Amino acid sequence: MDIDWVREQFPAFKQNHPKRPKTPMIFMDNAGGSQTVRHAIESIGEYLTHFDVQLGASYATSVSASEQLEKATKSIQTYVNAERIEEVIVGASSTSLVRILSLCLSQGWKTGDEVIITDVDHEANRAAWIELERQGIVIKTWCIRPKTFELHADDLLTLMTDKTKLVCFTHVSNILGTINPIAEWTQLIHDNEALVFVDGVAYAPHRLIDVQAWDVDFYFFSTYKTFGPHQGVMYGKYEILDTIPGFNHAFIQTSPYKFQPGNVNYELCYAMGGVVKYLCELGTEGLSVEINRKNLKNAYSLIANYEATLLQRLLDYLTTIPAFRIIGINNSQTNLRVATLSIIHESLDSKTIVQYVDDFQIGIRFGDFYAVELIDHLGLREKQGVVRISLAHYNTLEEVDALIQAIDSLL
Ligand SMILES: Cc1ncc(COP(=O)(O)O)c(C=O)c1O
Repeated sequence: MDIDWVREQFPAFKQNHPKRPKTPMIFMDNAGGSQTVRHAIESIGEYLTHFDVQLGASYATSVSASEQLEKATKSIQTYVNAERIEEVIVGASSTSLVRILSLCLSQGWKTGDEVIITDVDHEANRAAWIELERQGIVIKTWCIRPKTFELHADDLLTLMTDKTKLVCFTHVSNILGTINPIAEWTQLIHDNEALVFVDGVAYAPHRLIDVQAWDVDFYFFSTYKTFGPHQGVMYGKYEILDTIPGFNHAFIQTSPYKFQPGNVNYELCYAMGGVVKYLCELGTEGLSVEINRKNLKNAYSLIANYEATLLQRLLDYLTTIPAFRIIGINNSQTNLRVATLSIIHESLDSKTIVQYVDDFQIGIRFGDFYAVELIDHLGLREKQGVVRISLAHYNTLEEVDALIQAIDSLL
């Protein structure tokens, strides 16, 4: 992967601004939110300059605005590999989309029906479901095994009954970084006649989404962690979306509009087209911006291999220091984990380490990252949570080395 070309596509690495700190920062808080790619930034300006009118009118600018927005939405459709454009729902954030869909889906459920959540998930894929206890839905928790940090399908099966309507889990935990076998789990859950609701937020920046290959019913991610602006995207299977009630005005009964109350943020949706364009360009080493799965697959294969090299460098260092414990698997294999790494130190708390590293102008972070249950279950609250180092494909080996030196100087 041509890292110089990649970094050039992210203006944040070059720009000076009077309101910004003077010293450049090494940015390794990517799982909190990534930098935004140039095409996406420019798309926002382009939309607001040229297409800033209400959609659906007969005048020419409105017609072209509708066309441009449809093109951007089609890019998202290709990006997630949805069969139909109606399956792509956009909203203010992942959290708000999960909440909306929980209210819509649960209208077809009755008292005593069951939803299974995990103790690994970010609250986004837990809180909305727990809220349904108030209407008599039974919530059960599928817990990780603390020694291996893994969710086991056997444990899930013991929780499932003929009342289980839905199982909600994460593709990649934003703390552990492990890639869960979601296609296998989905098959198992479908065999038991329940639906799946998958959080892909920590997966999407690192590996290519393929909702059809996995056969998932619902899958969501946040575009601001995937090189775009602040919003959320949700895929839902058309046959399900078509039959459940919506969350918009009663006369709006078609998907995705029935799940998008009011106007969606057009310029941000349009900007997501810019992200997909960038990824396709990356997949052809800058030669083409044609939006297709082949280019996206190439891009993500470059990303996966490149990030594994960065991660391995970090693991090579951390595993030489017995006082550090990796919270997750100690392996950079691309099919097993992404480059989001959490650690704790046997005597230093996580806040002390991160605040020390701040002075080196390196942005990492400590805490529970809203995976509140996981941090409590692992007994890490008194450590101030974990130290999370979350890399993206625009980080460099030199940056990883600088982080290693900074951490090492503290010990
Ligand atoms: C794994 C994971 N899921 C869900 C979310 C919620 O995303 P949003 O801010 O778009 O609601 C986050 C945000 O940090 C996250 O890390």
